[in-house]
Amino acid sequence: MGSSGKLTAEERGQLLDAARGAVNNAYAPYSGLRVGAALLTRQGRLFSGANVENASFSLTICAERAAIAAAVAREGATMRIRALAVVNSAGSPCSPCGACRQVLLELGPDAVVLFQGPEGLEEKSISELLPAAFSLPRV
Ligand code: THU
Repeated sequence: MGSSGKLTAEERGQLLDAARGAVNNAYAPYSGLRVGAALLTRQGRLFSGANVENASFSLTICAERAAIAAAVAREGATMRIRALAVVNSAGSPCSPCGACRQVLLELGPDAVVLFQGPEGLEEKSISELLPAAFSLPRV
């Protein structure tokens, strides 16, 4: 059963709980910032991911993209994101980075994103978070 539309309070709770749980699995010895993400697919499955840092800093994988990779590994190329939540160990404001927004948009063009803003939990569409996204031009 596919699902779409507004998130229910239960779904919001599931996403936030799973993201908070994933924070504990982060590998973040360099920044010390443990990040957890969880996503709900249109098929109704829940996946989570945590950031995985590396001594070669630029190889770090963000929590959001780790969760997306897990979802594709399970559901395949047709996996689409309905909603994604991201939280961190500091409990501080943290929205998805630009690279994660671009990846989120491609696999969840209608995705809802939950994150900690300066005044509490925010819920925004990915197109609000990434207007004028890159798309591959014809060559
Ligand atoms: N990080 C994420 O996991 N997601 C984001 O959207 C932004 C940043 C991680 C990467 C790095 O391990 C740590 O947060 C500090 O930048």
